[in-house]
Amino acid sequence: MGKKKDRFENVPLKEQIKPIFEKRFKEMLKTEEEYEKFKECILTVQRKSFRINSIKTKNPEEICNKLREKGLKLSPVPWCKNAYFSEYDENERSDLGNLYEHFLGQIYVQEATSMCPPELLEIPKEINDSFMVLDMAAAPGSKTTQVGDKMNNRGILIANEVDWTRLGPLKINLERSGLTNIVITNNDGTKIEGEEIFDRIILDAPCSGSGVIRKSPKTIKTYNPKKLKMMQNLQLKLLQRAFELLKTGGIMTYSTCSLDPEENELCIEKFLVKNEGAKLELASLPNLILNNKLEEFEGKTIPKEITEKTIRIWPQDNDTNGFFVAKIRKI
Ligand SMILES: C[S@@+](CC[C@H](N)C(=O)[O-])C[C@H]1O[C@@H](n2cnc3c(N)ncnc32)[C@H](O)[C@@H]1O
Repeated sequence: MGKKKDRFENVPLKEQIKPIFEKRFKEMLKTEEEYEKFKECILTVQRKSFRINSIKTKNPEEICNKLREKGLKLSPVPWCKNAYFSEYDENERSDLGNLYEHFLGQIYVQEATSMCPPELLEIPKEINDSFMVLDMAAAPGSKTTQVGDKMNNRGILIANEVDWTRLGPLKINLERSGLTNIVITNNDGTKIEGEEIFDRIILDAPCSGSGVIRKSPKTIKTYNPKKLKMMQNLQLKLLQRAFELLKTGGIMTYSTCSLDPEENELCIEKFLVKNEGAKLELASLPNLILNNKLEEFEGKTIPKEITEKTIRIWPQDNDTNGFFVAKIRKI
């Protein structure tokens, strides 16, 4: 049977923006001008970025020079050491995934926003072998490999993923990165057994993906806020289990590539109300522009602490995708 034809295939993307999307995002961005900036940005192709993997190379500058010799124009990702944007050239295929350095694991192709959670996790420089980190929803492994780089193959790093079809790419990425302190598990994160054993946890939750329209334009056609409640239920369950598995004094991050409040600020609010021992820490990274912080939504005021301490990245501010991160400590 032939591939079903998309009846919107020839309709320009900007004409496919649903009224409900426009209504919600106009409300969040407050002014028409800011919404137009946002809209213009999400309809453009996103620049690529990568991280240099210090497990595989001790000389990042040498790698950068090799890539420049291959014609790549690099500019640093301000909030992550040894990470770069690679300028997008419309006339050439700038596919970082085809580079020799990628195959050798010397670079890891990763969204610049996706680098934020590991940067906030305060992985100590010197760690002992009993230091335990869990990545609860790990595939395809961007954040796991970044945390692994910081751990320098010390301690134990558990990469969990519920979807077994995603375990293959996860395994390949972890192996290529040269990580040897890894255990891969295939569990539903809400049901991971055990007690408070982890020093650090990354929860990069499954979400609606409304922040990644630049990378995945079909998201604009499938946008449906009715599904957000269901997503939030799963996100809250994952958050709860992650928190139960965290040691007292331990740190976890919660992140999504969504810009919808239900999956971000409102989800964190519900979680904090239920967990007295959870302290929201200031999530702050150098030179990350954070405009349009969300103070209220659909008539509901968002607690000031959440607005001020979490990271909400709008695509137009840093020329990236949209992203959200909260940093939580167990006290
Ligand atoms: C946003 S992606 C993770 C991306 C990954 N952290 C990275 O940086 O490469 C969310 C992942 O959560 C997984 N997932 C969905 N439900 C889950 C559950 N109940 N437990 C664990 N993982 C789950 C999805 O299969 C998906 O791989």
